[in-house]
Amino acid sequence: MPLSTLHLHAINDDDVRTAGNILRAGGLVAIPTETVYGLAADATNPDAVSRIFAAKGRPATHPLIVHIGEIQTLYQWAANVPDVALSLAAAFWPGPLTLLLPRNPAANPVVAGGLDTIGLRMPAHPVTLRLLRDTGLSVAAPSANPHLRLSPTTAQQVLETMSGTIGAVLDGGPCEIGLESTILDLTQSPPRIVRAGPLSARELSRAAGTNIADFAAHTQAVPGNMRRHYQPRTPLFMSRAEQLARDIGNADGRLGTLFYSDTWESTLQTLPSTQATIQATIRLSGQAEDYARGLYDSLYQLDKMNLDAIWVESPPQTEDWRAVHDRLSRACQI
Ligand code: TXA
Ligand code: MG
Repeated sequence: MPLSTLHLHAINDDDVRTAGNILRAGGLVAIPTETVYGLAADATNPDAVSRIFAAKGRPATHPLIVHIGEIQTLYQWAANVPDVALSLAAAFWPGPLTLLLPRNPAANPVVAGGLDTIGLRMPAHPVTLRLLRDTGLSVAAPSANPHLRLSPTTAQQVLETMSGTIGAVLDGGPCEIGLESTILDLTQSPPRIVRAGPLSARELSRAAGTNIADFAAHTQAVPGNMRRHYQPRTPLFMSRAEQLARDIGNADGRLGTLFYSDTWESTLQTLPSTQATIQATIRLSGQAEDYARGLYDSLYQLDKMNLDAIWVESPPQTEDWRAVHDRLSRACQI
C-alpha cells in the first residue's frame, strides 16, 4: 500500500521533530542539504537502510553516504581517521565534501553496499545539521530520486517522483549549491577525487597540505559512478553553440533548449526554417556556480513538458565547470 508522504517544513520546529521521529522509527525522510535533497534513513538500522534501496530501485551493491552531525562520529564509522581527514573536515565541514575511509568493521555493512570502505560527510543545511545533532542519528542518504534519474534540488521535485514511497519530505527550500558533493577517496595514495563536485582538487590540496589527484573522467571504478546517470526521461543532446544551431536546423519535433551564452538567441534567429518547434528555452548563468545551482531544476522543468528532445549548449571546458560537465555528459543519451 502506498504511504501518504508528509510535506514537512523546516521552519516549523514540530515538523522537524516529526522528521526525527520518523527516522528513529526506521522510516524514510527526504532531507534538505546544501547540495541536493537526500533520502535519509537511520544508518545503524539495516532494515531502514534496505528501505532506501527499495524506494529508489537502487542495486544493494551501490554504497550510500553516511551523514553525520559531529566530527567525533567519524570514529563510529571509520576504522581509522588519518590526520588528513581531520584537516579536511576542519576546513570544509559542514560542507559539500564526502570522505571515503576504511570502514569500521563494527559499522553496518548494508550502508556501504558490502564494501570495506565508508563514505562520510557533514551536510551544511542548518536544519538538517540541527536534526542530526538533536537526534544523535547518523543517516544514510543518497540523492532523493529514483535510481539513475536527476537529483532533486527542491522538495516539490522530491514529491513528484517519490511521493507514496517515503514517509516525509522535510522542505528546507531550494538547495544552495545544486550539485552533489565532491567525493575524495582517502584510502588511495595520493588521495583521489572520485566524483567531481563543488570543491576542486586545488582547494582540497591546499587545505590537506598534500597533493590530491584530480578526478579523471571515465577511469573511475566507483560502484554507482556510472556512465549513464542523472538522466531526464527526455533524450538530451549537447554541443557547442554553432553546432547546436545547425543540429536544431536539421531536427524535428518539439524541442527545449538550455543555454548560457548571450549570443544564443540571436544565433537561433539566423536559423534557416526548420521542422522543429522550440517550445521552451531556459537560459542559465555564464558563471559556473550559478549555472550549477539552476541545472537540475531546469532539466526537471524541461523534462515535464513532454518534449522530443532537450538540446544543451555545452559550457566552457575550464576547471570551474568540471562538475557541471561531468553531470551533463552522463545525462546525454549518446
Ligand atoms: O551531495 C551529495 O553527496 C548527496 C547529498 C544527499 O549528500 N548525496 C549523494 O548520494 O549524491 P548518492 O548516493 O546519490 O551518490 C553517492 C555516491 C555514489 O556514486 C556511491 O557509489 C559513492 O557515492 N559512494 C558512497 N560510498 C562509497 C564507498 N564506500 N566507496 C565508493 N563509493 C562510494
Ligand atoms: Mg544520486
